[in-house]
Amino acid sequence: MSHPLESLFEPGQLKQDADTCQEWGRDWTRSHSPRASAVVFPESVEQVVELVRLAVACRIALVPSGGRTGLSGGAVAANGEVVVSFDRMNRILEFDAADRILTCQAGVVTQAVQQRAAEHGLFYPVDFASAGSSQIGGNVATNAGGIKVIRYGLTRDWVAGLRVVSGKGELLDCNRGLVKNATGYDLRHLFVGSEGTLGCIVEVDLRLAPTPVPQSVMVVGVNRFRDILKVLAEFQAALAPSAFEFFSQVALEKVVAHRNMRPPLAQPTPFYALLEFDSTDLAAAEAAFARTVEAGWVSDGVLSHSEAQARDLWQLREGISESIAQFLPYKNDLSVRISRLPDFLDDVDELVAQRYPDFEVCWYGHIGDGNLHLNILKPEALSIDEFYARCAEVSPEIFRLVAARGGSISAEHGVGLLKRDYLEFSRSGEELAVMAALKQVLDPAQIMNPGKLLA
Ligand code: MLT
Ligand code: ZN
Repeated sequence: MSHPLESLFEPGQLKQDADTCQEWGRDWTRSHSPRASAVVFPESVEQVVELVRLAVACRIALVPSGGRTGLSGGAVAANGEVVVSFDRMNRILEFDAADRILTCQAGVVTQAVQQRAAEHGLFYPVDFASAGSSQIGGNVATNAGGIKVIRYGLTRDWVAGLRVVSGKGELLDCNRGLVKNATGYDLRHLFVGSEGTLGCIVEVDLRLAPTPVPQSVMVVGVNRFRDILKVLAEFQAALAPSAFEFFSQVALEKVVAHRNMRPPLAQPTPFYALLEFDSTDLAAAEAAFARTVEAGWVSDGVLSHSEAQARDLWQLREGISESIAQFLPYKNDLSVRISRLPDFLDDVDELVAQRYPDFEVCWYGHIGDGNLHLNILKPEALSIDEFYARCAEVSPEIFRLVAARGGSISAEHGVGLLKRDYLEFSRSGEELAVMAALKQVLDPAQIMNPGKLLA
């Protein structure tokens, strides 16, 4: 069947078969069924400009799509939209040693950026378990965070410039890699985290960092949730961690079973913290560890003595998401300021115990950033619809606790379809009105990822 966008593409660049629509029409979120009408694979910026202009003229809704590793349905085409895949815009275009900037197309896989940076003796510090599949355009569109935020910040902090095609089909060249540029609104930052609702990100200038010294990893067992934060403070007083993550015993059991690994410590503890730090700080880390044991916060610990051991310890944290996917978890991705974490944790813990007495609850996350992943696992006997309906009943109660402490209902996974109807718990009515007005300016025909982020 011919398609209104067909005139723009070579054969094979526009696909309408059921398998392609199914595969490219969804992301890692499994709660919404994909229903894409077509998938297009542009190969140049000019093609994206023409695509958006024709889509505006024909009123065709577009879903920009990267590695589809998102967990909030931001890249799901659930309503007959056309998916715009950046899989064929996957070239690294340029590296400038003086600027330490790597310029790439949106479809470059995150790990390829990390590898290219290493080839130039530099470091791209944004990292997470899905770095082997996720694409830079998607990272920017969701302001991806991950495991090294505590030292290096989020994707936003590494974007030196952006080329985007707005929802009107205009090509905007934002910031052009400048360090200093005090010429008004920084449109680059408007597109970071915009989840494809304002236009398509086509090219990105990424700033690279100096390569850090080799890193050591330590996993410690902690008995009480609250004490994890005391451990964090103790280590932060002694050194600058490049990661400070945590996970619960339930999470550990899942990952150990899934990856066929040995538990890190001789005795199980309710919680674990994983720290990464410069190996030149080893003595300071060992002294801090001794103090946490003496204070009674930490029961035991294990330290990496090689890169291979460090990688194995990291698996205990990075493998969790994949290991619980089989339980179709209902995911929460919450954050509050670190100073508010202790009370927030107590409140959420109490609520979860009351409201999910019969569900298995799996905690993990980037606690050094104030970011908790609360995953409720589906009991085998319960249907998925019933399970999600029961979890959805509790969501507003959890989000009220988040709102009461000025936190975020989506710290790093984005809003997409999943969190859209709860946005008022984190953003005021005035803010939402400004966001809608900005969308109207950049996407007046409302063709860019409609229904995501904003209703
Ligand atoms: C993680 O921290 O492992 C990722 O955000 C994925 C997840 O939350 O499942
Ligand atoms: Zn995470």
